[in-house]
Amino acid sequence: MRIYVTENYQEMSRQAANILSAQIILKPDCVLGLATGSSPIGTYDQLVEWYKKGDLDFSEVKTVNLDEYRGLTRDNDQSYYYFMHHHLFDRVNIDLDNTNVPDGMEPDSDKECARYEELIRSMGGVDIQLLGIGHNGHIGFNEPDAAFARTTHCVDLTESTIEANKRFFASADDVPRQAYTMGIGTIMKAKKILLIASGEDKAEILAKAFYGPITPEVPASILQLHDDVTLVADKAAMSKMPK
Ligand code: GLP
Repeated sequence: MRIYVTENYQEMSRQAANILSAQIILKPDCVLGLATGSSPIGTYDQLVEWYKKGDLDFSEVKTVNLDEYRGLTRDNDQSYYYFMHHHLFDRVNIDLDNTNVPDGMEPDSDKECARYEELIRSMGGVDIQLLGIGHNGHIGFNEPDAAFARTTHCVDLTESTIEANKRFFASADDVPRQAYTMGIGTIMKAKKILLIASGEDKAEILAKAFYGPITPEVPASILQLHDDVTLVADKAAMSKMPK
């Protein structure tokens, strides 16, 4: 695992964007696995800036997002579809036909999850998967559980996730209770993983995920078994890592 420690969120974002742009430059038709949440917003802003300067070309890039709330329409400003368009897709020259987010409005979860899994496979897999980390160690929406989920599936969100994400909604009652997410197995198949973390509130879980036991109770801990992981985290998020 490579670890880059940065001074703050802005530097973390710049470093993560550097790694993603290297991927795009080396393989213009690469498949990027993308994430939502507050962690990647700065990374997307930086990519947009470099695109505007003429340093990056997204015309052949393909994307697959990790997850989507179940039951939110695409025009709901809390859907991950909306988030991705707002923060990245609508600001660069990506072909929207090459962007993919699970369809949260497909009521048949088995059908949607199987479709998404097959889609990723048919694209040749993910070249680099960007990840944030939840306070309970979730990646995508893979919540702590008794076992690691292999493929894209429907999850019941935990109270702690609903609590963490309610800041984006009018109230906790408005946070969807379920989501479709790539499985841990899907994520582990990505050729490269890039995990970003910022802030002291992520310090404890980051230490657990990278230096604690590998357990489905801390879903991100499985990344210890992936052989191409880059962690980009600011000093505050790194503050509880073993010396
Ligand atoms: C959300 C997303 C995750 C994200 C995580 C952390 O629930 N499903 O993909 O990594 O929570 O979010 P944040 O970056 O806002 O801390």
